[in-house]
Amino acid sequence: MFMYYFAFHVIVVVSWILFLLQFIKAYQYHKIAQGYIFGILSIFFLIIAFYLGIKLIMFNESILKSGGWLHLKITLAVILAIENIYYFIKFLLKKSISNKIAEINYWLDYLIFVFILFLTLIRPF
Ligand code: HEM
Repeated sequence: MFMYYFAFHVIVVVSWILFLLQFIKAYQYHKIAQGYIFGILSIFFLIIAFYLGIKLIMFNESILKSGGWLHLKITLAVILAIENIYYFIKFLLKKSISNKIAEINYWLDYLIFVFILFLTLIRPF
């Protein structure tokens, strides 16, 4: 059972970030229909990613003591989640986003995602 949660966690987090990045681009270029689709998908996968992450911790609670990597990773994931929800609400309220802010967020989110993968796969500390 653990392997299923494990595999789906990885599949779901990759889907989340993929749709989050697509959502930011759709929002930036005022593509309303795409913004709705990618925005809803990103929030949906965000929720499942956290659910499966918490399930993985419950399977093996000692992992919480395995080092700082997990704590830093969860902190960064929470920052990404807050950003995702914040921009989706802004999008729903039909508020526009500046081109520069969207571009910065897009690349920053990508880099945070890569760093989370690095932290999880290498577990440097
Ligand atoms: C963008 C967000 C995330 C990404 C990219 C990500 C990625 C991954 C990857 C690639 C693995 C497999 C690592 C391996 O092969 O050992 C993993 C495992 C794990 N993830 Fe995540 N994750 C994310 C969010 C979260 C969150 C929010 C939680 C907790 C609430 C979490 C908890 C865990 C745990 C506990 C494991 C390790 C399971 C184990 O080895 O016992 N992850 N994650």
